[in-house]
Amino acid sequence: TQYTEEINAFSTEKADELEQFRIKFLGTKGIIKDIFDEFKAVSPEEKRTLGKVLNEFKQLAEAKYQFLKENNVAEESVKVADADLTLPGEGFEIGARHPLALVRREIIEIFNKLGFVVAEGPEIEDDWHNFSALNFPEEHPARDMQDTFFIKKGGEKGDIALRTHTSSVQVRMMEAGQPPFRAIMPGRVYRNEAISARAHCFFHQVEGLYLDENVSFADLKQTLFYFVQELYGEGTKVRFRPSYFPFTEPSAEMDISCTICKGDGCNMCKYSGWVEILGCGMVDPNVLENCNIDSKKYSGFAFGMGIERIANLKFEIKDLRLFSENDVRFLKQYKTSL
Ligand code: PHE
Repeated sequence: TQYTEEINAFSTEKADELEQFRIKFLGTKGIIKDIFDEFKAVSPEEKRTLGKVLNEFKQLAEAKYQFLKENNVAEESVKVADADLTLPGEGFEIGARHPLALVRREIIEIFNKLGFVVAEGPEIEDDWHNFSALNFPEEHPARDMQDTFFIKKGGEKGDIALRTHTSSVQVRMMEAGQPPFRAIMPGRVYRNEAISARAHCFFHQVEGLYLDENVSFADLKQTLFYFVQELYGEGTKVRFRPSYFPFTEPSAEMDISCTICKGDGCNMCKYSGWVEILGCGMVDPNVLENCNIDSKKYSGFAFGMGIERIANLKFEIKDLRLFSENDVRFLKQYKTSL
């Protein structure tokens, strides 16, 4: 009651006096905290009646504080006359685009010029779209637990997993319509790998698909050659090496002349003068048939690249982990005006 009277009688117009009041009664070392601490020791029967009184007391103090704060105490406003209006304003930093976003956009722009549109699909996929439709044999090692993050067993279209490549989007596109198709599929993909400077459990891809009547390997080569000239500059050399993918036949890997040492040999190209940048090939007729496309009438090519790798070569970044650590010192180097 002594305190109740004190609270009722209290009034002020000064902010610091009100703050004193708050500290005395409501602060973390204030009177109310003390009383509540003592209250813990009281017998259960007493707790009921006493608790009510205490709560009312606390509410009284809080209400007083709120009331004074809102009604009586003048806000400390800056007087315009005191301010030097000729001072320059405080600058604020403009953010930077993520290097992977920059490179993705550049890749998209180049393929846009060739008439490729952007297609997207889900990151959580079923076995059919990620593997089976793409002609992966049942026991293919890429399906192993090592590479794929499985989410759920079974399901109408097989096990559910995080997509390991955006080729799954190609399948969805082919299932949804008939050629001609000319599209690229940018997106994040997941593989169960130990994180190091050279590998990560997720990365980003741009895959592409071109399907029409009479599309040949020459079209594939010319398209990718043009792409590289645009991205890394005129005079960048390319070479194709035979390779294997279940969904393309024939398949190839494409190297470019090292953009960093210009072919003289450096760490990035392991002193060979060449760096691998993508996989590609003519779409296997089995894949077309799996997606209800007439493989006698239509042919086409597909390719897929990792955006990280393209960015590494563009910006001479040697550690993949930099892309996902969100270190502002790294990220703000890539400011652009766009
Ligand atoms: N899907 C392949 C991968 O992720 C890349 C690729 C796409 C290869 C299309 C050939 C044709 O490695």
